[in-house]
Amino acid sequence: MEGRCFFNRLMHWFSRNRRNDPWNGTDDPYTVWISEVMLQQTVVSAVKPYFEAWMGRFPTLFHVASSPEEEVLRMWEGLGYYSRARNIHKTARILTSEGRRSLPSTYKELRSLPGIGDNTARAVLSLAFGQKYPVLDANVRKIFMRFFLEEEWSKETASRVDLFVREGMEGYPPGRVNEALMQLGQAVCLRKRPRCPDCPLVSRCQARLSGREDSIPPPLIRDVTGKKTVLLIPVWNREVGILRKREGIGRGLWTFLNFSYEEGRVVLSRLEEKGRTDILPMTRQIHTYTRFRDELFPYLICFRKKEDFKTLAQELDFQPVDMDKLDTYPFLTVYRKITEEIKTLLTGDISR
Ligand code: ADE
Repeated sequence: MEGRCFFNRLMHWFSRNRRNDPWNGTDDPYTVWISEVMLQQTVVSAVKPYFEAWMGRFPTLFHVASSPEEEVLRMWEGLGYYSRARNIHKTARILTSEGRRSLPSTYKELRSLPGIGDNTARAVLSLAFGQKYPVLDANVRKIFMRFFLEEEWSKETASRVDLFVREGMEGYPPGRVNEALMQLGQAVCLRKRPRCPDCPLVSRCQARLSGREDSIPPPLIRDVTGKKTVLLIPVWNREVGILRKREGIGRGLWTFLNFSYEEGRVVLSRLEEKGRTDILPMTRQIHTYTRFRDELFPYLICFRKKEDFKTLAQELDFQPVDMDKLDTYPFLTVYRKITEEIKTLLTGDISR
């Protein structure tokens, strides 16, 4: 199929099937940027409520830049990949400190900012500034691998597709072309069981024509590594000991004292021997991230004496926080479940 026909069919399909998402129909660079970052590695339905809440709280770049990082992370809580939020905050501060009110409009300047990678820069340039930059993210790559029957996404494939889409952008607004491709990849050209009968390109898709749409692109195989972690949560009265994560997954968010399973057992038996605390096992949680499946075993360590609690706080460098204030601290979703359970336990009768 020559390019013109490809894009005519694609754009005709898009004009009838375009989703009405809250970030569609804007060319405001800030809004495009935020939605693009949220949409990376996150499904559209999960993004919608976050996008709306974010825009309510931070309607402009200036609102992000003038807020503390912790508040930005709190608005991101539950979306995952928190470096995205930290980078938005950094970028907002860089831009406002340079006296800008919005994002720059060149590829080079955009790429120099924290968290703006190739695809984000391309999406901003096309959707906000109408420039001819194809977005070739995983959803779009899938379409072209099938359409041109490419078993892998090589450099050559990338430049061929880039050129092909750029030419398509001669006839249609670049941002619309990118949106159409991304939506087709998300809603129709699915990795597993693609919905070929709904696809405007089905009659010329080489993978489909040769019956290989299920094997191109090759199915993802992920090795999962199991882990076990013990979480110790010191409490005294209404105060709960938490600490701010300084590195790794969820840096900048809050967490609990954590130990490998074996180490945790040792600490727990020492506490039991001392007999100065009541130990209450809480609901086990599963935390899956990257290639890990981490089983979390949380324990409330209820101190009877304030001095013991304060001494341990100094020793282990945790921060005592009133349980009603826990809501204002950003936590990973799985830890938020634990803070909710802590509140229930501390307001009920835990001595039984
Ligand atoms: N994924 C990344 N960017 C997107 C967009 N603009 N629309 C839909 N899905 C996306």
